[in-house]
Amino acid sequence: MRSEMRARAREVLEGNWQDGFTIPCKGLYPFQWNWDSGFIALGWGHVNMERAKQELRSLLRGQWSNGFLPHIVFHNEAETYFPGPEVWDVSRSAYAPAARTSGITQPPVLGYVLEQLYEISGESITDFVREVFPALYRWHHYFYTHRDPHQEGLVYICHNWEAGTDNTPVWDSIWAGLDSPQYQLNRRDTQHVDASNRPSNREYQHYIHLVELFKSWNYDDVQIAEKSPFLIQDPLFNALLMRSNEGLIRMGQLLGREAEVAQLQQWQALSKHHFHQKLYCPLQKGYVYYDLRGNRRLNALSSSSFVPLLAGIPPAHVAGEMVSSHLDSGTFSGVGGEFYLCPSFDPSSPFFDPKRYWRGPVWINLNWLIYRGLLRYGFTEVADKLRSDTLDLLEACGFYEYFDPRRHLEPGHFRGYGGNHFSWSAALYLDFINRQPI
Ligand code: DGY
Repeated sequence: MRSEMRARAREVLEGNWQDGFTIPCKGLYPFQWNWDSGFIALGWGHVNMERAKQELRSLLRGQWSNGFLPHIVFHNEAETYFPGPEVWDVSRSAYAPAARTSGITQPPVLGYVLEQLYEISGESITDFVREVFPALYRWHHYFYTHRDPHQEGLVYICHNWEAGTDNTPVWDSIWAGLDSPQYQLNRRDTQHVDASNRPSNREYQHYIHLVELFKSWNYDDVQIAEKSPFLIQDPLFNALLMRSNEGLIRMGQLLGREAEVAQLQQWQALSKHHFHQKLYCPLQKGYVYYDLRGNRRLNALSSSSFVPLLAGIPPAHVAGEMVSSHLDSGTFSGVGGEFYLCPSFDPSSPFFDPKRYWRGPVWINLNWLIYRGLLRYGFTEVADKLRSDTLDLLEACGFYEYFDPRRHLEPGHFRGYGGNHFSWSAALYLDFINRQPI
């Protein structure tokens, strides 16, 4: 079974390879996406390191002159996705590159991925690490100098697509306060996937409204920080930034880049100082989001709440209470173990929806990040459970984009949703089976 699945995972990556980069999946996501490419590069690292290198090089072609790395690079033409490059119109920014890109970013996983590729191949990729290190450093420099208005070491996101967790119920209270225009949008996603598994039309109007605002400000970060109605410190995004800082510090030490290492260490210390204090909710026993515009915590738990484990943020006793309350038994696994780990939103909440995108289904990338976080703290039993749940879902259903987390479904109900032959599901399957627990 495993060797057949391994071959199928490789076929998924081969099938989505586009002469220099890998699309997340055909039709639904036909371009190059930022954090997808990070996970995909890791998968390629297990089967073809040259492809892993090309993947990251292609993505970096989209980098803006201020260090910003966009969430989509439109290398190719495709009519199957909305919003395309003409909607983003990033030439309004003085920093936009020659490549066509979107105007927002995505969770910064690349510094971590680079370190993990080095783990897999060692010194044979030192030249590649030397080649891409400066661009990744500049991306982190951008975050700490443009996205941290209070100098807390906690950067903000200004769009829900920057979170990666596009339609999590966490944003509902933000949308409720917005009076976005009732655009008639020519959505393409719902032509590929059942609309009931995707964000609603009203949510899409908010997403596009934010894009229109950023365009009206020519993607100027100062105006965005001052005026964007969506301005959030996100625990997943910031934990990945910190874990990527660690990766870049390690790689920088290897390359002898002392000045960059010292700066990264300084940012890391600042982030470490504020992260737990500001984003941990002792009542809910998990990390939550902070709304900078509304000056309030958004008190809801999602799979993002556990990713700070990956960056070593919670003190050991806090990590223990978080894991025992939610993952070991309890909310996210269900008291009787009725959910596959890890639902993307709190199953005890009335807003949990096991079928709709980021409002409940299991996602393979979040499982992989939490799994590695659990191992970091030595929670091997729960980590094993998370790993076997992940492999069970993939092996039973195939490389879907997301999965219904309920273990017991009515007969005839299929649990794989969204895109099929989805690249990061295949790529991370390869990492799960090729690397034994650290
Ligand atoms: C989408 O289009 O659904 C993406 O998640 C946005 O990046």
